[in-house]
Amino acid sequence: MTPRTYAIRTFGCQMNEHDSERIAGLLEADGLVPALGPDDADVVVLNTCCIRENADNKLYGTLGRLKTAKEQRPGLEIIVSGCLAQNDREELQRRAGHVDVILGTHNVHRAVDLLHQARESGPIMEIWDEALEEAESFPSALAVRREVGHAAWVSIQIGCDNTCTYCIVPSVRGRELSRPFGELVAEVQRLAADGVHEITLLGQNVNSYGRDLTLQRRQDADHDADHGADALIAGAQWAADPARRVRPLFADLLAAVSAVEGIERVRFTSPHPKDLRPETIAAMADNAAVCNHLHLPLQSGSDAILTAMHRGYTAERYLEKLAAARAGIEDLAVSTDIIVGFPGETDADFERTLEVAAEAEFDLAFTFIFSPRDGTVAATYTDRFLDPDLVGRRYSRLHTVTERSALAKHRARIGRIEEVVVEGVSKRNESMLASRTRQNKLLHFASAAPLRPGTRASVLVTDAGAHYLTGELVEVLAAPRHRTRIPVTAG
Ligand code: SAH
Ligand code: SF4
Ligand code: F3S
Repeated sequence: MTPRTYAIRTFGCQMNEHDSERIAGLLEADGLVPALGPDDADVVVLNTCCIRENADNKLYGTLGRLKTAKEQRPGLEIIVSGCLAQNDREELQRRAGHVDVILGTHNVHRAVDLLHQARESGPIMEIWDEALEEAESFPSALAVRREVGHAAWVSIQIGCDNTCTYCIVPSVRGRELSRPFGELVAEVQRLAADGVHEITLLGQNVNSYGRDLTLQRRQDADHDADHGADALIAGAQWAADPARRVRPLFADLLAAVSAVEGIERVRFTSPHPKDLRPETIAAMADNAAVCNHLHLPLQSGSDAILTAMHRGYTAERYLEKLAAARAGIEDLAVSTDIIVGFPGETDADFERTLEVAAEAEFDLAFTFIFSPRDGTVAATYTDRFLDPDLVGRRYSRLHTVTERSALAKHRARIGRIEEVVVEGVSKRNESMLASRTRQNKLLHFASAAPLRPGTRASVLVTDAGAHYLTGELVEVLAAPRHRTRIPVTAG
């Protein structure tokens, strides 16, 4: 019998990508295999995002097309998971009667059980309001089908305890929970043994990693007795260090995972500027494996708007932290997120954003138009909502400023030799390979020999655009070590 096939479409951020890997792992453990394309799949999973409004629109569009497909192919099963499902359950149920399983962000591990249940008794929706089974809450902790062999995501924290007034994430991902230090180091060791040499640590606010661990777990004697408190909370090595801090900091985690043999690149996202500590900058500078890239979301350059957003820093403080990071870490690339058109943003506020963005000289900026999300504080500021045309004009002016600095940063690299990791065939030009530099820049280069994803090479940069570099292969440094080879096409 030919096995049933699945396809997953992921919307949103890396946390969702990582959850999707986990859903894929569960489906494969249940005997399914990846479909050749989304139109052939027997099981289609839509792992959703609700950070901005257009995310919703995209989902309902896709669901409409799947309804027609299901009418033609009644065996087709549809799962909707992720943040929008968590947030929008009633609406989703109303508009998507043809969906077999709806599950939220806290019960991803139940995907296959629910699918079996739906086969027996019809469409099912199961959404938990919080993480009930903590060990199961961390996507990396269970079977995962990784898309690439040489790189892996490791979620170090789920949820968010911040209160940014525009943001829906805390209400869909719940309170902040850090994964125990020892478990994380052990997982990275396992990944390295599997041939992974690049990891990306994931959390909504990675710099507050561990804040909940000491408080929560030390009170929880039962949990500690079951799991061996020190090894779990802190990792055996960390716990044995007489000079250790009261709790492990994110900086300690960076140092510990960088020290794992075989790990050559460590990335992380996102650190909140208010919590970016000197220890983190020092750990980035002192551990050679940590990549020279910092994603530091600015959101706005106006202090009044930053206050209204509840961000906890001023523009000046942001620029000071940025300067400290650049002074401490050699050849650091910096990317950011900026929101335009927050309620009440005046011309003067926006001019300040332009100034700060120009001064910060970002390598890359993700710019967003404010999107009111029901349930957030800023969505109630309706009296201060701005004219969309005005916001559109501001958006394109900001784009001009951030593109200018991105192009300058990329052009400054022409003539340098970069150490890259191959990601796959370039989407821009199939005769070239796409690779990443330590600064997280996309570098396209030609190679006579087909280099596998994960291959490390040095490449001379010969040209640059605002979002990519092009170059020529100098030499291959190392072949990938991982066993499974999955062809990928990259940026
Ligand atoms: N935890 C991450 C952000 C995750 S959301 C952090 O704090 O860095 C990614 C980005 O989406 C945010 O940085 C913000 O710029 C943008 N964003 C979030 N909510 C938004 C909204 N309601 N409208 C527009 N952009 C938003
Ligand atoms: Fe949202 Fe702010 Fe938390 Fe980031 S830190 S997820 S922007 S609430
Ligand atoms: Fe979207 Fe959820 Fe990520 S709302 S940005 S998928 S945490």
